[in-house]
Amino acid sequence: MSSGHDIVEKNTGLMALLIVLVVSMGGLAEIVPLFFMKDTTEPVAGLKPYSALQLEGRDVYIENGCYLCHSQMIRPFRAETERYGHYSVAGEFVYDHPFQWGSKRTGPDLARVGGRYSDDWHKVHLNNPRDVVPESNMPGFPWLSTTLIDESDTAAKMKTMKALGVPYTDEEIAKGAEEVKGKTEQDALIAYLQNLGTVVKTQR
Ligand code: HEC
Repeated sequence: MSSGHDIVEKNTGLMALLIVLVVSMGGLAEIVPLFFMKDTTEPVAGLKPYSALQLEGRDVYIENGCYLCHSQMIRPFRAETERYGHYSVAGEFVYDHPFQWGSKRTGPDLARVGGRYSDDWHKVHLNNPRDVVPESNMPGFPWLSTTLIDESDTAAKMKTMKALGVPYTDEEIAKGAEEVKGKTEQDALIAYLQNLGTVVKTQR
């Protein structure tokens, strides 16, 4: 009795099509639900877009390769949450383009470093980490304290973020340059660091 199998086996085009269909099932089953899962695309309650200064600070973070030694992604394991605080959730990163999860931890995770130290501690630490952490092997970034932010780019950066879905108002964009004028790269970077991970309350 023919089950129709001979039709498939004698027709390579049809066979290839059916193979692709079967193989893609697993992928589709994983990927399609993500398009309908709100909590990966909805900001967590209280999440605000970066201020102009924080946004510039984020660029300083990227420019100086901080992500090469620091992750910003706390995994839901006890060893991590005891050390760093509440594990990271997707809704914290919806305004991050691109996100700074990183993959290497030469230094500690920074996802919840906001508020952990004073601005003054960060200043000393960024100029020369060994002044506050004697055994540190993090390099110093002393030039950040004498390099000014170029405010002529700020509005364009905010507009780009807006095009990517960050809800900046036209008024915020218009005021962006004014907010960062005269600030150093170090000021901006510290503003960025002090905001990291502060929307999700942690019990550290
Ligand atoms: C070569 C690797 C390396 C690079 C690059 C690096 N760091 Fe670090 N960082 C470390 C190490 C190691 C520590 C832990 C020792 C210490 O506190 O200095 C650390 C600690 C820190 C801490 C304290 C974290 C905590 O919870 O105690 C902050 C904040 C920090 N780094 C920010 C930065 C920033 C911002 C940059 C980029 C300007 C940067 N780091 C670049 C290795 C690095």
